[in-house]
Amino acid sequence: MIEISVSSAAGGYSVTVGRGIAAELAARISADAGASPAVVIADANTGPLLGRRLAEGLGAICFEIPPGESSKTLAWVERAASAAVGAGVDRGSTLVAVGGGVVGDLAGVVAATLLRGIRLVHVPTTLLAQVDSAIGGKAAVDLPEGKNLVGAFKSPVAVYVDPELLIGLPEREFKSGLAEVIKYGVALDEELFTRLRDRRAEVERRDLETLTAVVERCCAIKARVVSADEEERGERAVLNYGHTVGHALEAATGYTRFSHGEAISVGMAAACAIGVNVGLTPAGVEEQQRELLDSYGLPFAAVGAATTEQVLALVARDKKARGGEVPWVLLEALGRATPGHRVPPDVVAQAVDRVLAEVG
Ligand SMILES: NC(=O)c1ccc[n+]([C@@H]2O[C@H](COP(=O)([O-])OP(=O)(O)OC[C@H]3O[C@@H](n4cnc5c(N)ncnc54)[C@H](O)[C@@H]3O)[C@@H](O)[C@H]2O)c1
Ligand SMILES: [Zn+2]
Repeated sequence: MIEISVSSAAGGYSVTVGRGIAAELAARISADAGASPAVVIADANTGPLLGRRLAEGLGAICFEIPPGESSKTLAWVERAASAAVGAGVDRGSTLVAVGGGVVGDLAGVVAATLLRGIRLVHVPTTLLAQVDSAIGGKAAVDLPEGKNLVGAFKSPVAVYVDPELLIGLPEREFKSGLAEVIKYGVALDEELFTRLRDRRAEVERRDLETLTAVVERCCAIKARVVSADEEERGERAVLNYGHTVGHALEAATGYTRFSHGEAISVGMAAACAIGVNVGLTPAGVEEQQRELLDSYGLPFAAVGAATTEQVLALVARDKKARGGEVPWVLLEALGRATPGHRVPPDVVAQAVDRVLAEVG
């Protein structure tokens, strides 16, 4: 078991990663929670998996939402908040999020706003949530106008990561999380990249020793980056490697054709090509990234999925865009991405063209 510290303006917290730690959570959480009633929030899959058992151990209710992005709404914030009030929460109460990024984001918004803020504990149950969304204190829900438009920074008081929970995760979700893991390797950690290449068989069959080591490494990277730049003024932006084109592709295809992981996989291919074209990324890196994505069955092209014009229009509307210009996260080397690059529009168009036209 390892403990990773995250520093935050709100006080800092630790991320504990340990195989089997889920069984000890009621004791750990109640030891810190005091006398105020706790509330567990889960979805219809993670409630039966862990949420209900944990709620029982805490003497709490387990509020369950329907699984999936369509529950990340203000309507579900209201329902969850009402259920928590019905359960007698007070300002010392703890909200425990047991689930993937959807439950975690919804819980973050509730915990940030209910009684002007109550304690939040994350127990992430998807690979994406364990290595990404549970760490860093961002929370948001969707509006009909777009994703993640209403939210807050809400640091948890603790994050508990149990890689054993990933054993029953559907393959598509696991693979989507792996794209994020590969992103950490490509953008921030060459050693992780090498491990993912050399231990692919173990990673893919979810060998727990290998998986735990990989999850630990990713949590440590995310913790380090967000501790240095909580509000994304600089370095934190490197975590968005592959996400500019990735998000645009997801939006252009109605969020159904590609998983988030597949979309950012294509986005990484585009970002890497841009880096090569502007002379920043060594050509060999593109080949290495492509081979790794391909070996994990992740796409580096999305032939005919959308038009270049559609994707470029969505790129220009990226949340990070300022005055119509998007700052790009590009690779200087394998394991070293840097944010804030200005790229001529024709270079972007060429790279987008390529990922939409190339036969993989
Ligand atoms: N706050 C952040 O910093 C941040 C970062 C990245 C992504 N996100 C958000 O995260 C969300 C996506 O999260 P996600 O990919 O975890 O999806 P998700 O929460 O929808 O979970 C995916 C599916 O897996 C099921 N599931 C979860 N854990 C399981 C388990 N252990 N075993 C079996 N099934 C399980 C869920 O019920 C769901 O059906 C998006 O809304 C995204 O915007 C937030
Ligand atoms: Zn992502």
